[in-house]
Amino acid sequence: MNTTRITLNPADTFATINPNIYGHFVEHLGRCIYDGIWVGEDTPIPNVDGFRTDIIETLRRLKPSIIRWPGGCFADDYHWQDGIGPRDQRPRRINIHWGEVIETNQVGTQEFVRFCRLVGAEPYFCGNVGSGTPRELRDWIEYCNFPDSGPNGSTWAQRRAADGSPEPLNIIYWGVGNENWGCGGNFSPEDYCTEFRRYASFVRGFGKKLSVIACGPANNDVEWTDRFFQKIFKDYWAFNNIDGFAAHYYCGTAGTATEYTEEEWYRLLEKGLRMEELVLQQRATMDAWDPKRKIGLIIDEWGTWHPVEKDTNPAFLYQQNTIRDAIVAANTLDIFNRHADKVVMSNIAQTINVLQAMILTQGEQMLVTPTGYVYEMYAPHQGAVSIRVRIDTPEIHFKKTNILQTTWQSALQEGEKMEGVIPTVAGSASLKGQILFLTLTNSHAQEATDVTIDLLGEVKINQAHGQVLAGEIHAQNTFSSPTQVIPQALDVLSKSSQLNLTLQPASVTAIQIHLG
Ligand code: AHR
Repeated sequence: MNTTRITLNPADTFATINPNIYGHFVEHLGRCIYDGIWVGEDTPIPNVDGFRTDIIETLRRLKPSIIRWPGGCFADDYHWQDGIGPRDQRPRRINIHWGEVIETNQVGTQEFVRFCRLVGAEPYFCGNVGSGTPRELRDWIEYCNFPDSGPNGSTWAQRRAADGSPEPLNIIYWGVGNENWGCGGNFSPEDYCTEFRRYASFVRGFGKKLSVIACGPANNDVEWTDRFFQKIFKDYWAFNNIDGFAAHYYCGTAGTATEYTEEEWYRLLEKGLRMEELVLQQRATMDAWDPKRKIGLIIDEWGTWHPVEKDTNPAFLYQQNTIRDAIVAANTLDIFNRHADKVVMSNIAQTINVLQAMILTQGEQMLVTPTGYVYEMYAPHQGAVSIRVRIDTPEIHFKKTNILQTTWQSALQEGEKMEGVIPTVAGSASLKGQILFLTLTNSHAQEATDVTIDLLGEVKINQAHGQVLAGEIHAQNTFSSPTQVIPQALDVLSKSSQLNLTLQPASVTAIQIHLG
C-alpha cells in the first residue's frame, strides 16, 4: 500500500479562510431557478414562498456562504426592473444565451434575496455592463440599499417598500459585468477598463461599504489581467474602488460525466488541479500592480463541464455528478484554502441542475450529489485560520492517449505532455479555537494509502474523528439510488501528537482534531 506522511504545526497559521470561498452560483439557465430552486407557490411540492422546502433545508446543511446571481452570461442581458413589482405583471423576455426560452421574471430581486435569507447565504449581484447602462446599475443599488423608503425617501427605495421591503436589502457584493471578454460584451481589457471606470463612478454605498468586483480573465489569461491593471492603475480613484477581481476556470471533462476510463479519471483530476497554477500566476500578476494585496482574487465560476445528459436540452447544461466531480471540488477548495491570503471568494457553477451541481431534481425528487457532500464536509473551514501543511505523498504517473473526436475534450492540448502527473494525496488544514480541521483527497483510482499525520509544536491530541466520501470511480447518486455516495464515519487512531488513518482510493476525507 502507498504511504503518505503529513506534517503540520497548528501554530503555523497564515490567513483566515474567507467563508465566501464556499460560495455558489445560481443563474437563469436551464433548470437552475425555474423547476430548480423555484417551483412557485401554487404547486403540491412543499415550498416556502415559492422556493422548495427540501432544497432550502439541504442548502442550510451545505452552508453556501454567498450566492452569485443572476448570471453568468444572463447577467449582461438582464434588466433588473423586469423582476420587480407584482409577479403577474412582469414582462416575458427571451433568454438569448440559454436556449431562447421565455424568461418569466418570476424570480427577481426580492425573491432572490428572500431565497438567500432562507438558506443563510449572502447575495452577490452581477450587474449588466454588456447591454445595460451605468444608470441602470446605480438605480438597482439605490432600490436595494437606500435606507429611507418613507415619504421623504427616494422613489426607488419607496418602490422597494411597495414590493415588500421597507428596510434596505443591503446588497454588499456587486459585480461589474460578467465575462466581459466574451458574452458580456466582447471587450478588450482596455475597453473593459474604460467601462469599469465609468460604471464604478456611479456605484454608491448609501452609507454602506460595498464590495465592487471587476471582471477578470478567462481561465489563466495573464495578459487580460496585466493589461486591465496596467490601464486602471493610472486612475487612482478607480483602482482604489476595486475590491475583487474575478477569474473563471472550468476544467471541462474527460470522457463524459459518468463514462470514463481510468486514464480519463486522472486526466480530469489533473485539469482540475491546474486551478493552483491559475491562482499562483494570477496572484503574482496582481501583486505587481497591487503589492499591498488590497484587491482579492475571486474565482466566481468554476467546476467541471461535461457533455449534457442524454435526452436533455443541450442549452440547459444538465450533467450527472460522480465521485470524480467530488474530488475535483475537494481539490479546488483545498487550493483556495492554501491561498487564503489572496483568494477571498469562489462560486462553484452552479447550485442545482446545471453543470457541477450540488443538488439535482426530477419532479418532486431531489438528491445531493457527491459534490454537494464535499461542501457539507468542508464547511468547518469557513472562517477558520489556514495552516501550512507539508504532504509527502507518491506521485501518480499516467499515460495520455491522444483520443480525437471519440470523446469530448480528450484530445491533447497544444504543448501538453503525453504523460500526466498528480499527487496521490492533496489537502489543506485550518484551525478554529482548539479544533484543527484537515481535509484530504486520495486521487488514486485503485489504491488506498496509509497516512501518518505528525503535529509539531506544543500540542496534544484529545480526540479525533473523521468522515469519508468514497466509492468506485464512477460512483454516483441517482434518483433510484440517491444514497450511493454519502459521507461515512471514519476511524482515526491518535496518540499524543500523531494520527494514523487509511485513505480509501478515490476518496475525500475530513478530520476534526480536538487539541488539548
Ligand atoms: O455557468 C455557465 C456559463 O459559463 C455562464 O453563464 C458564463 O459566465 C460561463 O461562460
